[in-house]
Amino acid sequence: MIGKFGQRQNGGTAERQKGLNFYICKMIDGNSYLLAIESSCDDTSAAVMCNGVILSNVIASQAIHAQYGGIVPEVASRMHQENIAIVVDAALKKAGVQVSQLNGIACTAGPGLMGSLTVGLSFAKAMALSLGIPFISVNHMRAHVLSHFIDAPKPQFPFFNLTVSGGHTQIVLVRSYSDMEVLGQTLDDAAGEAFDKSGKILGLPYPAGPIIDKHARQGKPIYPFPIPHIEGLDFSFSGVKTAILYFIRDEVRKDPDFISKHINDICASIQHTIVEILVRKLTFAAQQYGIKEIGIAGGVAANSGLRDKLTEVGRVNDWNLYFPAMQYCTDNAGMIAMAGWFEFLEGIESPLDTKPFIRGMQ
Ligand code: KG4
Ligand code: ZN
Repeated sequence: MIGKFGQRQNGGTAERQKGLNFYICKMIDGNSYLLAIESSCDDTSAAVMCNGVILSNVIASQAIHAQYGGIVPEVASRMHQENIAIVVDAALKKAGVQVSQLNGIACTAGPGLMGSLTVGLSFAKAMALSLGIPFISVNHMRAHVLSHFIDAPKPQFPFFNLTVSGGHTQIVLVRSYSDMEVLGQTLDDAAGEAFDKSGKILGLPYPAGPIIDKHARQGKPIYPFPIPHIEGLDFSFSGVKTAILYFIRDEVRKDPDFISKHINDICASIQHTIVEILVRKLTFAAQQYGIKEIGIAGGVAANSGLRDKLTEVGRVNDWNLYFPAMQYCTDNAGMIAMAGWFEFLEGIESPLDTKPFIRGMQ
């Protein structure tokens, strides 16, 4: 499944020109300050950036979803409403930046949950309008890729990015800050979702990814789960989840304590399978395209098994691997600021009637 990130909703040259002039007159102390907001899923985050450098990155996570075993969209948007003003205020205070110093506001427009996106987007647009500064809409998936440019070392173009989170699994060919092509993505569950759903089968709390990782470090992958054979560069994880479900059901029938007795080995086996699916596809893509610059981003980039395997395969294939700092792997406004910054430098701003979108690359 090949898809190109769509064209941005920007005006033409005149509007860009207007944007550039605007930034020049607003700059008070010779510095450019951006506020960024992220609210696409269940994290409310705000970041402040000065001249492309992150000054603060505040994240309010919503632990409330653990009791439901997954994210409840209605609850997520209500929590964003509670948190948004507080998080933005905290980010500005931490950065030591006044609202009056801001030169632009960047915000995630999608993909994500409609209610969650609406909270951040409405807040950002209202703030930009009231301050008379540009509003810059950001694609969340592009921002994950551009998180590699927050800190050194930074990848060289062209590079591959494996974006692995609770909502997405993509291999992206990144030719420049703006030219990105999705070469493959999941046909069903995302990698993080595969971890979380497998954890649910085992009775682990949500999100189960980090817990499976912890158990896996003390276990061995002795239970074989199938690796699906999917054509091209797409992924599939739903078969693995079903195989785990049937395996656990059969074993628990024989021994009701099977899970608690073998939790480490079960988790090691689940993790091994998910990591194999990811790394085999990435290796295939890298060989096909002759690319050795490889970035990993998204919450699942925290997984120790994935990091170990990539390091091992990377050594064999002579890859340069890039992992953003952990605070920029999971959903965060720092990466939105980074993506917004590249637009800001180009003088690009977005219209105030920009709408949130659930899926897609626009
Ligand atoms: O990027 P992220 O914070 O939010 C989304 O956009 O989804 O990713 C969250 C996902 C969850 O599915 C969580 O279980 C997974 O990342 N995750 C992990 C680990 N840490 C977070 N999965 C496996 N191992 C981890 N150490
Ligand atoms: Zn994300």
